[in-house]
Amino acid sequence: MTTLSQQPGWIYLLRDYLDLYRNGSAGGSAKIRSHQHLVSRTLGKILTSDPPFADVDAMQLPVCVHLQRAIDNASHQTTAAITKSVQAMGVFLKWQYGYEKVPKGLEKKYAYAEVLGPNGPVFSDELILGLVLFAPRTTYPTHNHNGITESYIVLSGSTSENDVGVYSPGSLIFNPPGQMHRITTADREPCLLAYAWSGAQGDLIGQKMVFSKPGQRT
Ligand SMILES: [Fe+2]
Repeated sequence: MTTLSQQPGWIYLLRDYLDLYRNGSAGGSAKIRSHQHLVSRTLGKILTSDPPFADVDAMQLPVCVHLQRAIDNASHQTTAAITKSVQAMGVFLKWQYGYEKVPKGLEKKYAYAEVLGPNGPVFSDELILGLVLFAPRTTYPTHNHNGITESYIVLSGSTSENDVGVYSPGSLIFNPPGQMHRITTADREPCLLAYAWSGAQGDLIGQKMVFSKPGQRT
């Protein structure tokens, strides 16, 4: 176990997360602004505290063949800086499914990698930050997060949530605790999202990626 101060690549990536949450627009929503403030304030505090760091066992999954394309597609977007930082840390990321049994059809189309949280590589029990990568034409089934406030920021590609709207690089999707949501990506290009989860320490530590039927809480 070491500390973050000895890991410049992870510091750059976390500073880019901080920029996203500190300088992104809330679109006039008080609830979204409050979440952005909470994430940026907590992350700023974590960075100042020089938290523990431990390398995770890097892992690739089939969807990773789309990562370079996602990074290339973001090169002229407002999210270019953070996607370059993701690229720099690519070989150190542990891409995983997070399910004991991967939902049928998602094995080649989806994975997530944690950047900060109770499981590392940067340790915190106050916040979880990570990345989600989707292949083109993917639907991530309906789910919610009990006790967790979630935001996704689109880094590359486009996606819709619950047939409500289409979100492009720089857009923030906000899911308050318990809200059911389903993500669908565009037909021809991959989609890379950054996510932040805030909540009580007990909820963050116990959180797992699971799906649920409408009306059921996880
Ligand atoms: Fe979610």
